[in-house]
Amino acid sequence: MSTTSIVDAVEPAATRVATKRTVLMCRPEHFTVSYRINPWMHPEEPTDTSLAVRQWEVLYQTYLDLGFDVHLIDPVEGLPDMVYAANGGFVIDNIAYGASFTYPQRQPEGPAYMDWFRANDFDVRVPANINEGEGDFLLVGGVILAGTGFRSASNSHEEIAEIYGREVVTLELVNPSFYHLDTAISVLDDTNIAYLPSAFSAEGRARLDELFPDAIIATEDDAAVLGLNSYSDGYNIVIASRAKDFERQLRERGYNPIGVDLSELLLGGGGVKCCTLELRR
Ligand code: ARG
Repeated sequence: MSTTSIVDAVEPAATRVATKRTVLMCRPEHFTVSYRINPWMHPEEPTDTSLAVRQWEVLYQTYLDLGFDVHLIDPVEGLPDMVYAANGGFVIDNIAYGASFTYPQRQPEGPAYMDWFRANDFDVRVPANINEGEGDFLLVGGVILAGTGFRSASNSHEEIAEIYGREVVTLELVNPSFYHLDTAISVLDDTNIAYLPSAFSAEGRARLDELFPDAIIATEDDAAVLGLNSYSDGYNIVIASRAKDFERQLRERGYNPIGVDLSELLLGGGGVKCCTLELRR
């Protein structure tokens, strides 16, 4: 007589396991919106730098409370988007592939981040192609999902496949509001993601459906507050507090969503994940 199978059937799909993360962040001391390189940005409207810093501090403290190892890069005056550290590079196996930004306004950030990687003993690879780092490259288990269409050039996908010796899945973004891959996909753990299907080409949607049949499908409303721009340790998922349906879906799947308000940084077109670059030694 065994009841094991019955117990298994009513339990959540899996017991979620949190893994301690190491990340790089940049305090938004010089944050403002002084140019427009994505539809979220309105330079004619005011921004509040001190509010941006206060909101960012909550995210920073949330990561510390989760036991993350958080490194900080010094913000540079005149680089208001430097707070979006995800764009500063892509780091796996101690190899830091540098960023090469699409728009001139952000180009000096590439070398600034590469200097930090060098000073912190990463093996830095100067990029040959345009790419915006972890904004467009997301590691899920052993596979790299790579976005293109608005920022990173598809030849950067070939470059990272070569550098890391991993499979790279190219996904074409089609909605200018979701111009970086991390605005349209949230990596939940090593095997699953959440995403907004309408942000991708038909081919991209088919590929995602095939790779992640069990994915969480985000609502347009949650995506519109950059709810997918979230950061997970496999159990705890830091999300935009306004992404209510996403929060519910995460809870149903056994994750622990933690809401934070980054409304001021949303004025630059970024959220939780944009402010976070994972450092994988
Ligand atoms: N203003 C920045 C830009 O348009 C926002 C970057 C957001 N970063 C991200 N990883 N999605 O480049």
